[in-house]
Amino acid sequence: MSDKLIQLVDIPQRGDARGGLAVAELGGALPFPVRRVYWLFGTLPGVSRGFHAHKQLHQLCVCVAGSVRFTLFDGRREENVVLNSSAKGLLIGPGLWREMHDFSSDCILMVFADAEYDEADYIRSKEVFIASTHVA
Ligand code: TYD
Repeated sequence: MSDKLIQLVDIPQRGDARGGLAVAELGGALPFPVRRVYWLFGTLPGVSRGFHAHKQLHQLCVCVAGSVRFTLFDGRREENVVLNSSAKGLLIGPGLWREMHDFSSDCILMVFADAEYDEADYIRSKEVFIASTHVA
């Protein structure tokens, strides 16, 4: 795992006088082939999401509207980052506990993933996750 919990990538901007256009493509902002895209929107006030880690999954999260705060935890250190720009993507690899807080009412959070949905890839217990990070 990288030393840095928060791995931000620049999303190339190709907008012009007509408006914005941002590109996430393989070899550019995307370091993996995408097999699934989902997006969170209309999150109700005060709702936090996530509270899990993945065993294998790699994800790129882009807040294309509004803002959201991510908390990442590797079993030892915890860091926060606010996503509020479609020009930045947050890479989250396996072995990181993630929580999402402070969704703005207009937040649209796009998530690009390198695998289809698989509940068996989730670790939904923080205790189990912490134990997994302390295995030699
Ligand atoms: P979940 O990943 O638990 O949401 P979050 O971590 O953002 O709080 O997903 C919520 C529900 O949606 C859960 O029942 C699984 C389902 N789901 C899918 O069916 N496919 C998907 O790609 C995702 C992300 C979730």
